[in-house]
Amino acid sequence: MPSSVMPTSRNGNDQEPLSAVSAVALRKSYGDKTVLDGIDLRIPSGSVFALLGPNGAGKTTAVKILSTLIRADGGQAQVAGHDVATSPDGVRAAIGVTGQFSAVDGLITGEENMLLMADLHHLPKQEGRRVAAELLERFDLTEAARKPASTYSGGMKRRLDIAMTLVGNPRIIFLDEPTTGLDPRSRHNMWGIIRELVADGVTVFLTTQYLEEADELADRIAVLNDGKIAAEGTAEELKRMIPGGHIRLRFTDPAAYQSAASALREVTRDDEALSLQIPSDGTQRELRSILDWLDSADIEADELTVHTPDLDDVFFALTGGTDAPNKTKENVR
Ligand SMILES: Nc1ncnc2c1ncn2[C@@H]1O[C@H](COP(=O)(O)OP(=O)(O)O)[C@@H](O)[C@H]1O
Ligand SMILES: [Mg+2]
Repeated sequence: MPSSVMPTSRNGNDQEPLSAVSAVALRKSYGDKTVLDGIDLRIPSGSVFALLGPNGAGKTTAVKILSTLIRADGGQAQVAGHDVATSPDGVRAAIGVTGQFSAVDGLITGEENMLLMADLHHLPKQEGRRVAAELLERFDLTEAARKPASTYSGGMKRRLDIAMTLVGNPRIIFLDEPTTGLDPRSRHNMWGIIRELVADGVTVFLTTQYLEEADELADRIAVLNDGKIAAEGTAEELKRMIPGGHIRLRFTDPAAYQSAASALREVTRDDEALSLQIPSDGTQRELRSILDWLDSADIEADELTVHTPDLDDVFFALTGGTDAPNKTKENVR
């Protein structure tokens, strides 16, 4: 495709492009294995985009192509208004990348890691020291700054990794699985850091295996499955794409289960768990009518749960349920 066909979405020559990242028909194979089978992306400046997919889906491959670490076999991509194939230096000058595997050197201190980055960005000595100190402070690493990075906890290493990425003051940041392997507290801490970046106007391209994380952080989410974008939209849009919620009734008495199962229409049975699912939007009115009906039929369930669709359901619906993190969120009311 000639580059003139690619919409660059510039709103003036010296302003940032409206699209921080745009890709059309990106393809990548390793041998006869197709990893990316033609993916399109469009990420507005200043937003958080989450590329969501299970292990091996091709998330890192997409990040590597967009950050010019590897080349695509086909398709086109522009990052910060620069073509990744023809203007990789322009792309590199605008982005920061925090890889899935840490770039932190454990043998030297956190501060030395930062100063090394400052050198790589050709910052004058004094400026480098100032930026390093500022970022170490911002990421709560001042106290540990003079200790070897190998002594840092997982959360501290990730924070240092991101601090190093920020030395060059990038406008677009790629974070490849920033919270994988972190404990819940460090994960929430990292979410706070990502929100702060966005508040500063940075565009964040995030990959994650965690639906909850995409739901929490991202303005838009793309689900990567089988080399293709299976769905793309806001968390709310994705949730609306799949059938609504349901009410689940669980029984301990097989006879009560049987009579309820045969009396209710439109139910999905689970004979082993003795549970029934009734499609429902979860409103008070619907809940009341189901309860009234159960009363009038003299049926007593042992447990009633209201299930509203979340991104897990979207993921399972889109991917056939393979290899996704197995989290179910049931709201017992
Ligand atoms: N350099 C490589 N050579 C061969 N296969 C690779 C290479 N890099 C990645 N792959 C394969 O591509 C697929 C996608 O990998 P990756 O992009 O790392 O997925 P993710 O980051 O979503 O876990 C995997 O099956 C992986 O084994
Ligand atoms: Mg990866």
